[in-house]
Amino acid sequence: MTASTQTKVDVQAFNLHYGAFHALKNISIKFVDRKITALIGPSGCGKSTLLRCLNRMNDLIPTVRTEGRILLDGRNIYGSDIDVCDLRKKVGMVFQRPNPFPLSVRDNVSFGLRVAGQSDPAQVDAVVERSLRAAWLWDALSDKLDEPALELPLDQQQRLCVARLLAIEPEVILMDEPCSALDPIATSRIEELMLDLRRQYTIVIVTHNMQQAARISDFSGYMLLGDLIEYDVTKTLFTSPRDPRTQDYISGRYG
Ligand SMILES: Nc1ncnc2c1ncn2[C@@H]1O[C@H](COP(=O)(O)OP(=O)(O)OP(=O)(O)O)[C@@H](O)[C@H]1O
Ligand SMILES: [Mg+2]
Repeated sequence: MTASTQTKVDVQAFNLHYGAFHALKNISIKFVDRKITALIGPSGCGKSTLLRCLNRMNDLIPTVRTEGRILLDGRNIYGSDIDVCDLRKKVGMVFQRPNPFPLSVRDNVSFGLRVAGQSDPAQVDAVVERSLRAAWLWDALSDKLDEPALELPLDQQQRLCVARLLAIEPEVILMDEPCSALDPIATSRIEELMLDLRRQYTIVIVTHNMQQAARISDFSGYMLLGDLIEYDVTKTLFTSPRDPRTQDYISGRYG
């Protein structure tokens, strides 16, 4: 790994249990600032679980128990002094199925602002425009701000979810299989958007699509049965993995 990379999120000896089930086993991984990291691995290996740990979404599951630390800019997000709402503003998530609220385009993008008490229409409009532009939706939607978000095509819905995140100025964007509901053209639009967002945000993406991981990520981690088997620069992981289990997976011999 190159020396010029700065750690944004530092996962240290992290374990997660769902009741008696040990789902994350002593994971240590550093997510680099303003880079895209892909988490790959077979179904059930813990990719989504790890992603959800990065903004403490697993807190919502009563059986979950965790050990270890996850540092965001050097500060443990599992510390007792952490405001979880604040954390989730800094570390936002985009899901597999686009999940816009049943509201207009404008009200979706400005939702977080309004919850935070911002009611000045000029301010709200400025943030809506900036966020839609950043998600490459302004040209398509600038004259549809009052239309229902749920009537947009799926890929616009997914980019609207990105715009909704950008409106609250996150630092880290988590994406759990963000293209799995999309066709190839819509997928390539999201991928190009991610490459653009990388200039400003640290992105962690879970994907089952290895071509996608190879195309867009700077670093990749291969997970298997709750272990992080290997983590490296994407090109290295895909062309000369150190672990035979990684080799088996990327060459399609897994299972
Ligand atoms: N809420 C939960 N309660 C109990 N077990 C869970 C829960 N969520 C996930 N698990 C289990 O934890 C393991 C990891 O699940 P996770 O969803 O993180 O895997 P994944 O790698 O994201 O899989 P997929 O590729 O299918 O999305 C699986 O064995 C799963 O059954
Ligand atoms: Mg998953």
